[in-house]
Amino acid sequence: MTDASLLPALQTIRQRALDVAPRIAVVLGSGWGELTQHIAHPTRIPYSELEGFPAATVTGHSGELWLGTLGHHQVAVMSGRKHGYETGAVDGMKTPLRVLQALGCEVLVQTNAAGSLRASMPPQSLMLLTDHINVPQRTPLLDEAGNARFVSMVDAYDPALRQQALTMAARMDTPLHQGVYAWAFGPQFETPAEIRMLQMLGADAVGMSTVPETIIARHAGLRVLSLSFITNMGAGLSTEALSHAHTLSQAQAGSVQASRMLAAIVGGLDLS
Ligand code: HPA
Repeated sequence: MTDASLLPALQTIRQRALDVAPRIAVVLGSGWGELTQHIAHPTRIPYSELEGFPAATVTGHSGELWLGTLGHHQVAVMSGRKHGYETGAVDGMKTPLRVLQALGCEVLVQTNAAGSLRASMPPQSLMLLTDHINVPQRTPLLDEAGNARFVSMVDAYDPALRQQALTMAARMDTPLHQGVYAWAFGPQFETPAEIRMLQMLGADAVGMSTVPETIIARHAGLRVLSLSFITNMGAGLSTEALSHAHTLSQAQAGSVQASRMLAAIVGGLDLS
């Protein structure tokens, strides 16, 4: 049975996008907004019309739900997400993701911008997440009861979907790194000492999102696939000055290619 708190947004979506029955939800982070250009016959709904969806407060995140078709699939694409650093709460994406699941989504494809911790993965690289490190050890599941909250995070990033993403990237001749994403709470960037710590912990990239949504999605039974757009080297690993403007300008520079690959991956996923 669908949780009553999800019904208002669910009804709005169904009324506005009558023929769309998405099986894939996509969350677009910085650098990935161009994906919306690939959506055929889109219906756009501002988050402000969807109860429980976040008000967009971060430049570069537009705050709209797009429904339409990408390749072989109907999709629901969230352009803009809520981050923990905006309010301190890490469950801001819980209602939107559950609404999209109630709409029929079985897969969550998440994207983000991240800093690289590896010299062999320079800015403008793309990285497929193989795993993550929840550095702040925060959870969006605090108000969940019952045994389902003790969700396994083994293979949180679905091995079969990852293999399909790698195959599609190779077919498109687009280099796709693989690695572990460390969640740093933000909004401040890391210190060079923190970056060295994250390297020692086995992380390959660092960013301020994605991990809470992966936890929400796994708890809800969604399969997850996630990609990072590398906008910079981690603090202290290069001479570039870190800022949100720098992240956005780097993200903008590579967004056409990144989104083309993402559209091909999502549009071609085999969900069987
Ligand atoms: N650190 C954290 N988040 C980020 C970075 C970074 O270096 N780059 C883009 N998002």
